[in-house]
Amino acid sequence: MNVKLTPNSRLVLEKRYLKKDQDKLLETPEDMFYRVAQVVAGVEERYGKRNTEIQSLTKAFYNLMANLEFMPNSPTLMNAGRDLGQLSACFVLPVEDSMEGIFDAIKNAAIIHKSGGGTGFSFSRLRPKNSTVRSTGGVASGPVSFMKVFNAATEAVKQGGTRRGANLGLLRVDHPDILEFIACKENNHEMTNFNISVGITREFMRALQEDKPYHLREPHTGSVVAQLSASEVFDKMMEHAWLNGEPGVVFLDAMNDGNPTPNVGEIETCNPCGEQPLLPNEACNLGSINLKLMVTKEGDGVGIDWERLRRVTRLAVHFLDNVIDANQYPLPDIEKTTKANRKIGLGVMGFADMLTILKLSYASEEAVQVAKKIMSFIQEEARKESERLAAERGVFPNYVGSIYEGVRKLRNATLTTIAPTGTISMICGVSSGVEPLFAVAYTKTVMDGTSLIEVNPTFENLAKDYGFYSEELMQNVVKQGTVRGLNDVPNWVQKIFITAQEIDPEWHVKIQAAFQTFTDNAVSKTINFPHTATKEEIAKAYLLAYELGCKGLTVYRDGSREEQVVTTGTTK
Ligand code: CDP
Repeated sequence: MNVKLTPNSRLVLEKRYLKKDQDKLLETPEDMFYRVAQVVAGVEERYGKRNTEIQSLTKAFYNLMANLEFMPNSPTLMNAGRDLGQLSACFVLPVEDSMEGIFDAIKNAAIIHKSGGGTGFSFSRLRPKNSTVRSTGGVASGPVSFMKVFNAATEAVKQGGTRRGANLGLLRVDHPDILEFIACKENNHEMTNFNISVGITREFMRALQEDKPYHLREPHTGSVVAQLSASEVFDKMMEHAWLNGEPGVVFLDAMNDGNPTPNVGEIETCNPCGEQPLLPNEACNLGSINLKLMVTKEGDGVGIDWERLRRVTRLAVHFLDNVIDANQYPLPDIEKTTKANRKIGLGVMGFADMLTILKLSYASEEAVQVAKKIMSFIQEEARKESERLAAERGVFPNYVGSIYEGVRKLRNATLTTIAPTGTISMICGVSSGVEPLFAVAYTKTVMDGTSLIEVNPTFENLAKDYGFYSEELMQNVVKQGTVRGLNDVPNWVQKIFITAQEIDPEWHVKIQAAFQTFTDNAVSKTINFPHTATKEEIAKAYLLAYELGCKGLTVYRDGSREEQVVTTGTTK
């Protein structure tokens, strides 16, 4: 079967995913999907499956990817059946408060980056700057100065030619060095290999709401060493988030409320893009369903294809559970933790594209309802498949003592995660994750700086169907990036093709929250603001996200960083 890929998608695959010898391609995209399907289905042998069964599963997995219905995270596509064999995108590594601990983490991160994985760290255990170091009698450098060493190490590794190592550095809001941390990316040229997030506690939020001070604590003993005004700290965070989008926040208590194995350990941080809370030394492999394809004719219109979504969800869970066994783990400790919880993260991409086909605006209550309906359906079907797998292969080893003990026998401690799908959405040619459209037509700079112009195909078709298509209009859309205010475009079409910066931040947060309600792990989403947005507007989005039960938040104000991957129009 020939895979239907856009030229852009082929380019992405050729540059980074397909087997190569120097510049000569050694496989086609079809070969790649087959290579992955074979490895992932192949592990069934250890569950006593016969060859014919394995062959038919290989075919089913192949079709799932070749039809672009589902795509595993990039490391699975790149590394399955090859020397590296490392298939997970997300890792969390512990950073212990000792020289050995710190440099172990740096070394382990380098090993993970080499294989295409991203690493999340909590630096909250490190003693604050200027506290004493017993063995030398000197003073400690503090978390921020060690982060610079992590950053430099990442810069040097560059993920073995596959992709750049991404890191998330988190510091709890009650760590004594929190103010230095909040400002540590003030200069856009520093810490370029880190996303930073403040770990927010309930205690802090309460103090903020009551406009009171909150306590800073010594990381080892938990004893109170100082206090700060919650609103002043929050204000500093907003000032920096306004300046260049960082720090983001992680709501630690919300993450721990969703921790399926609190008896095994506490969630201290998550992976680089924020969607995957994990225990120290835990990894997770992700995969996403292409929602653009999950629509079907319904009467005169279009509706959601629930049967197809059910089939794809079930098969995708089976696939991702197998990946846990097929994976070659970079470190023994990671293999142990990961196989004890067997977390997987099934999510979606192409949500915004699906909405345009359903003729719904992203900024609407209907879109919020569609988000809830789809994600609750996926979550439930995923759990059913995990139950089926548990009956066949056993529950996850940490099941006893987990939140599921005596409730539901599952094979996987978590099932759902909404990933950014930065590259796999390009491979499928759809909008990323649950983000809105960024532009109706745009110039995209891919990897090595090649520029491509693309007009949204659903818009182009609709324009033809409703008779307002013209070359001149398309030129204007490319120039402007959006369709707002274009006289030739009917009002109702302008609403459907609303883009990220035209959407009120409140709707961004509401959609994130709608998906979060039915997602075991977290949702990767950026709340976009126009360049003119104020610090207060950004603060409002953070507070709303907390109120609606989001597990974290990332904001971005247009034009606040020099380099943007996607720019609207052709002039920038
Ligand atoms: O689309 P793709 O599978 O390539 O990845 P994604 O959904 O955009 O990102 C999923 C996760 O992969 C991120 O949260 C990171 O943990 C990791 N990642 C990374 O380590 N380095 C990158 N350059 C991109 C993603």
